[in-house]
Amino acid sequence: MTLSIKRPVFRSPILLRLFLFAIILAINTPSVMSQPANETLKTIHDRTSIRSYTEEAVPASMLETLLRAAMAAPSSRNVQPWLFYIVEDRALLTRLSEELPSARMLAQAPLAIVVCGDTQKGDPNAEQVHNWVMDCSAATQNLLLAAHSLGLGAVWTGVYPYAERISTVRAALNLPGHIVPLNVVPVGFPAAHAHPKDKWDEGKVIFKRTEE
Ligand SMILES: Cc1cc2nc3c(=O)[nH]c(=O)nc-3n(C[C@H](O)[C@H](O)[C@H](O)COP(=O)(O)O)c2cc1C
Repeated sequence: MTLSIKRPVFRSPILLRLFLFAIILAINTPSVMSQPANETLKTIHDRTSIRSYTEEAVPASMLETLLRAAMAAPSSRNVQPWLFYIVEDRALLTRLSEELPSARMLAQAPLAIVVCGDTQKGDPNAEQVHNWVMDCSAATQNLLLAAHSLGLGAVWTGVYPYAERISTVRAALNLPGHIVPLNVVPVGFPAAHAHPKDKWDEGKVIFKRTEE
């Protein structure tokens, strides 16, 4: 009769060393973030601005998913000062593409979402009144990530703080004075695959640690 003795894997010094080496490598390799560990991180790292679209319409269910993601964003004191104007009218998209030089791609987009801030929401305190910008920016980023996760393409085209662009969009959408457009986000199915940019820069990270 032969006795088979099961040795634990790490009784083998070679395997143990290899295992430790892999852990040390994983901890010290900056590219760890370029190989995201879960779907959320993958979406964040794979997203990139998309400026050309197919003619395929964006399904209503997807549009709702984008808006729900946008409204799930954090906001100062939970004021949620955002409003989302959905522009599907072809003539209006063309007009905006002609009047906003940095948003020419609106001419081909099946729709655009204009993210606006309601400056009458929340505390009219001289400092807090500016929080709509941060709140609507957080909502826009959620929207862009949700679009990417659904296989849609989108890009943030800036309106605020440029006075001329603000009055262009205000006139086109007939916005009241207290509603300020932050951006116009064309949305559609990407016409081509685009590669995300690698922006990791260790030099932009500053640690303040207790001196030993
Ligand atoms: C505040 C802001 C304003 C922007 N304005 C424009 C714009 O007017 N037109 C445009 O094509 N892209 C615009 N972008 C998109 C940037 O050009 C883009 O995010 C940047 O080049 C990085 O590329 P990525 O989004 O693919 O990572 C804007 C982005 C931000 C955050």
